[in-house]
Amino acid sequence: MTSTAVNLVRREPRRIGDREVGPIGFGCWRLTTESTADAERLVRGALDLGCTLVDTADVYGLDWGGAGFGACEERLGQVLLHHPSLRDRMVLATKGGIVPGVPYDSSPGGITAACEASLRRLRTDHVDLYQVHRPDLFVHPADLAEALEALVQRGLTGAIGVSNHTPAQVAALQAHLDTPLVSVQPEYSVVQLAAMRDGTLDQAMALGLAVLAWSPLAGGRLASGDGVDPALLATLDRIAAANGVDRIAVAIAFVLAHPSAPVAIMGTQRLDRLAAAVAAVDVPLTRADVYAILQASEGRPLP
Ligand SMILES: NC(=O)c1ccc[n+]([C@@H]2O[C@H](COP(=O)([O-])OP(=O)(O)OC[C@H]3O[C@@H](n4cnc5c(N)ncnc54)[C@H](OP(=O)(O)O)[C@@H]3O)[C@@H](O)[C@H]2O)c1
Repeated sequence: MTSTAVNLVRREPRRIGDREVGPIGFGCWRLTTESTADAERLVRGALDLGCTLVDTADVYGLDWGGAGFGACEERLGQVLLHHPSLRDRMVLATKGGIVPGVPYDSSPGGITAACEASLRRLRTDHVDLYQVHRPDLFVHPADLAEALEALVQRGLTGAIGVSNHTPAQVAALQAHLDTPLVSVQPEYSVVQLAAMRDGTLDQAMALGLAVLAWSPLAGGRLASGDGVDPALLATLDRIAAANGVDRIAVAIAFVLAHPSAPVAIMGTQRLDRLAAAVAAVDVPLTRADVYAILQASEGRPLP
């Protein structure tokens, strides 16, 4: 086989600090089920499929039919309360620091209180990963670092990470931490390649950070095609047809193909679609495929 025919899609388990997760994660932004039983069916089904990273945030529940701030954590917490064995099967990640109306507070007092409140809602004594949801531009990284280390030292979280931070913000925070950050969580998909171009994924590879890619299907727009460049859709459809799969599978495989080995955090609340996402790890993508997608996404040929 020539090197250009090699399959780039990375199927191996991913490491988040000292924990291992499957390449497809289960996102809880839209976990606004009618009942705890429905949520339990989803969470158990996701774990059975190998989607062992369960990603939530305190702010989830404000939209998607949720009852408000904290509602998705509360729903997941009810699942864990009634089915505690599920807790041991997941790498539970949450985030804090978004305060509606402010909009950010990652001050030491703010982030500490946010983590403590998340644990109460999640009905667990610790999460496995606590992430700063968005950068608070008015907190000194030394102060944030001290607060995050205290969360680890108190056993409230197994590890710490950030989301939506620039590489410079990650470096500034890490410079004040004795405990290494273990993860970044950027938006990353065939329609959102900024993390590949702005140094986020390069820094993750340099520091050994797990990359947790949010909205790998652009929030569903890759299924509907809404607002997506027709040339990109056509490229995805062409590669999909050649592999006997659909466009969604190719879009997921593209996320998994980056050498930083991202976890694709899926947002679907349907187990059939989550199973299809798990099957997408078997879609082979060559260099020609990923570069065709990249060039269609960016709308211009590479030099
Ligand atoms: N850190 C951050 O700032 C941030 C921001 C956003 C999201 N996130 C994380 O990323 C997770 C995923 O985000 P997302 O929900 O935007 O992800 P996504 O996987 O890009 O989009 C999920 C949406 O696509 C829809 N969809 C339509 N057709 C689908 C198909 N064939 N397969 C799968 N889904 C299909 C789903 O609807 P159905 O449910 O009906 O299938 C769902 O509404 C969130 O749950 C959260 O954990 C993090």
